[in-house]
Amino acid sequence: MAVALTIVGDPREPATRRTLSVPPGTSILKAAHAGGVDITATCGGRGRCTACRVKFLAGAVPPPTVMDEVQLGPDLVREGYRLSCQCLLEEPVSVQVAPPLEERAFQILPDRPDGLARLGRVALDSGVAKQLVKVTLPREEHHQTSDLEQLCQALGVRPEDVGAGVLQALPQALRDDPAGVTVTTFGGRVLAVERGDTSPMKFGLAVDVGTTSVVTTLLELGSGERLGAVSSLNPQCVYGGDLMSRIAFAQFDPGNLRKLHTRIVGLLNQHVAEVCRESGVLAKWIYKVVVVGNTCMHHLLLGIDPSHVGLAPYAPVMRHPLVLPARELPLRVAPEARVCLLPLVAGFVGADAVAVTLATRLWESEAIRIAVDIGTNGEVILGSRDRLWACSAPAGPALEGAQIRHGMRGALGAIDRVTVDDDVRVHTIGEAEALGICGSGLIDLLAGLLDAGVIDWTGLIQVEGRAALPPRLGARVELRGEERVVVVCRPGEAGARAEIVLTQDDVRQVQLAKGAIASGVAMLQHVAGVPAAGVAELLLAGGFGNYVSIASALRIGLIPPLPAGRIRYVGNAASLGAQLCLLSEAERARAAEIATRIEHVSLAAHPDFERLFVDAMNFPRTT
Ligand code: FES
Repeated sequence: MAVALTIVGDPREPATRRTLSVPPGTSILKAAHAGGVDITATCGGRGRCTACRVKFLAGAVPPPTVMDEVQLGPDLVREGYRLSCQCLLEEPVSVQVAPPLEERAFQILPDRPDGLARLGRVALDSGVAKQLVKVTLPREEHHQTSDLEQLCQALGVRPEDVGAGVLQALPQALRDDPAGVTVTTFGGRVLAVERGDTSPMKFGLAVDVGTTSVVTTLLELGSGERLGAVSSLNPQCVYGGDLMSRIAFAQFDPGNLRKLHTRIVGLLNQHVAEVCRESGVLAKWIYKVVVVGNTCMHHLLLGIDPSHVGLAPYAPVMRHPLVLPARELPLRVAPEARVCLLPLVAGFVGADAVAVTLATRLWESEAIRIAVDIGTNGEVILGSRDRLWACSAPAGPALEGAQIRHGMRGALGAIDRVTVDDDVRVHTIGEAEALGICGSGLIDLLAGLLDAGVIDWTGLIQVEGRAALPPRLGARVELRGEERVVVVCRPGEAGARAEIVLTQDDVRQVQLAKGAIASGVAMLQHVAGVPAAGVAELLLAGGFGNYVSIASALRIGLIPPLPAGRIRYVGNAASLGAQLCLLSEAERARAAEIATRIEHVSLAAHPDFERLFVDAMNFPRTT
């Protein structure tokens, strides 16, 4: 007999109250998703985060599971919160979806407005050409011809080079304006025929589809001028915050695959509408779209099942560059616009790594340089014009604040800067009241606690040694039952309404994440035989990479011990690489060549990986 589940406060419509009829034994999370209620499941429903927590309002509150205790902590458990992914329904209940930590005004790194200019001169040849053409219309009945043939004759192209989407507008366009029609071509194909002279109107989009955030940039193709950028969270996050959870959600389930595909295409169409509204550009004048993303994001955008990418030997379904008509996604730009997906390398090393290599000019560098794109699915590229190596370093969402007791993304109210001396001092984004701590804040905090001796090189919170610490600092180090914690903010400090703590488990989560990135860098240095002294420069790319303090990143060993002067932020290099390929077909061809040159290093398959990873999880010891 079906069970009634009442859900109060759907994240998208907090005022709503929905009652669903659910087969007994179904988890509240699954029932909510099936009922169209977007409860976020960062860890993909494995009981390893707190995103899916709900508060029981009516009906029997089930006894807490171990995961409830570990993730939520004693206070929330006592208040009737449970992880909805761990709660199986047996009788009618009413639950309130925990309002997501009101993460407002996310910090998502668009590209740097001067990004392209910093790359110096790039020959602008987007491949999109527009010309005003006079087409002789069919006149005589005995003249066996058609509008299309007349157009092809005027252009010197074949009928098969004219996209299907052009034909609908053709008869009107040919007859509306005696001045002629403007014909848009790309790679020998006719993408559009418009009445009159619209030749100056040609635009394109560069899209970086990240596991957590998506950035869309609008460019004018003739001048390369950047006309606007939109960024937002990847709506697929609801179904899993990291790649493996997202693949698990889609795995061998066409319905779930369709959900993930529809979500990302839907978001891109929202971005198109928004960037056009803001810039005043008509979507029908967007003729080229370049998309980058890691292998899984690439496959989901194309509606390709990524299941096998998540299983050894982690082979993608395809790797080569792909160009398809926008109407096939469907993307609401010019129907025949070309969507160009950059090539993949192997495993999880996707087109975003190729774009980073292109934008950072590692491929033409004389000296050995390293680029680290720190994100949920981190990528590391090491090399020069002689050889290039790359690996995927899945840091997971901990550096985005997920799986951290009071973690949050870089949004208003997030603690993003911390100093530790005789006490802990915090800064919040927007100087707003402290709501939680984000990745860059976590890195600062750990670096400060290491220097102060609150945490040792293995990551253990030194409760036993707190008496030796400065009084105010020592008072923040506590043992609560079995749990070691550091109180970062007490209620009232930095405007915090509730206390914000760092737990021992949080430290371990960050160690896992930084261990993944650091061991990725160490492995490439190992494989290439390049010691730190042989690295001319390390480039920090990506959202997180550009907000983290270089000094703190060095202190916790997230990046190798290079002199700070040889470490540089490069903004959203993946988006920059996509923009290069949008504006220059030569750069897009170069991206294809780079993808074949990059040697993929599979961390898990390398015999030395485990040792490197364990070493990288520890913090550097200071003498
Ligand atoms: S604990 Fe439920 S989704 Fe993570």
